[in-house]
Amino acid sequence: MTTANAPGKIILFGEHAVVYGRPAIAVPVREVIATAEVTDITQTTQGEIRIEAPNIKLDKWLHVLNPDHPLAKIVHLTLHAIGSPKFPPLQLRITSTIPISSGLGSGTAVSIAVVRALSTHLGQPLPLHRQSALAFEVERIHHGTPSGIDNSVVTYDQPIYFVQGEEPEILHNETPFTLVIGDTGRTSPTAVAVSQVRRAWQEDTPKYEAAFEAIGQIASQARECLMEGRVQELGRLMNQNQTLLEDIGVSSPELRALIDAARASGASGAKLSGAGLGGNMIAMVDPDAADRVEIALREAGAVRTLRTEVST
Ligand code: MEV
Repeated sequence: MTTANAPGKIILFGEHAVVYGRPAIAVPVREVIATAEVTDITQTTQGEIRIEAPNIKLDKWLHVLNPDHPLAKIVHLTLHAIGSPKFPPLQLRITSTIPISSGLGSGTAVSIAVVRALSTHLGQPLPLHRQSALAFEVERIHHGTPSGIDNSVVTYDQPIYFVQGEEPEILHNETPFTLVIGDTGRTSPTAVAVSQVRRAWQEDTPKYEAAFEAIGQIASQARECLMEGRVQELGRLMNQNQTLLEDIGVSSPELRALIDAARASGASGAKLSGAGLGGNMIAMVDPDAADRVEIALREAGAVRTLRTEVST
């Protein structure tokens, strides 16, 4: 049996603006993971793959799945990438502790775990940039215009500074810091928020370009802070980024309630993370305030909270 994992992720700064060419920062969240296990089986013919994904109640042969189903797509892409080898019948079992459609990168992590497990099991592990490129192809089914930041951060499993079309820059933050993540419990597919922003950008391009530019500048400042160990400034930058995300219409009352609760209970800053309209928010906290902030988030309606330490 071959097992492989991939972590969740959050966007620290720059979501949406990154789709329009501005920089953004994302970090892995290793407290939640997707896992893929590949096992040889005997009860069928060569080249057949049984896909089992209990989280989404799926248990089917690959050939009966729609080729555009994200799991079928990533399996086909992986087999093609390693030269469509002949192989014995296999079972691919996928599990994940990453909440679905909530900004934590669950689909991307599943793709990367599958690429890793399958290519390794078939004796041809793929380098990181190839893994990332295959997951990007699947992202394009989820939403037509992905920036590539999600597949990059999940693959490299390090904090990254990302500009579309460029190699991700691994950020070596000298000073680790703590984030609390709060889940509104309201799922929100990335595609919905991304296309809502696209329509609004088409209707009022100057307003949206100005917001994206300001968001990009915040991401650049955050990069400097991280590299120089000035992490205490990140909270203020998160608050500024949140105001701009509200201006472009991707916050929600549930997100706002959690963000307010985090700030009131001692977080130095908070913002939504990912595509927005639901999903998760993040708060910058001193380690000794983390318990208090988590309790406040649950009282304000969070269905789940997580704590992660960001370090390279
Ligand atoms: C989603 O995690 C981040 C977005 O900026 C979309 C993308 O970059 O592809 C909303």
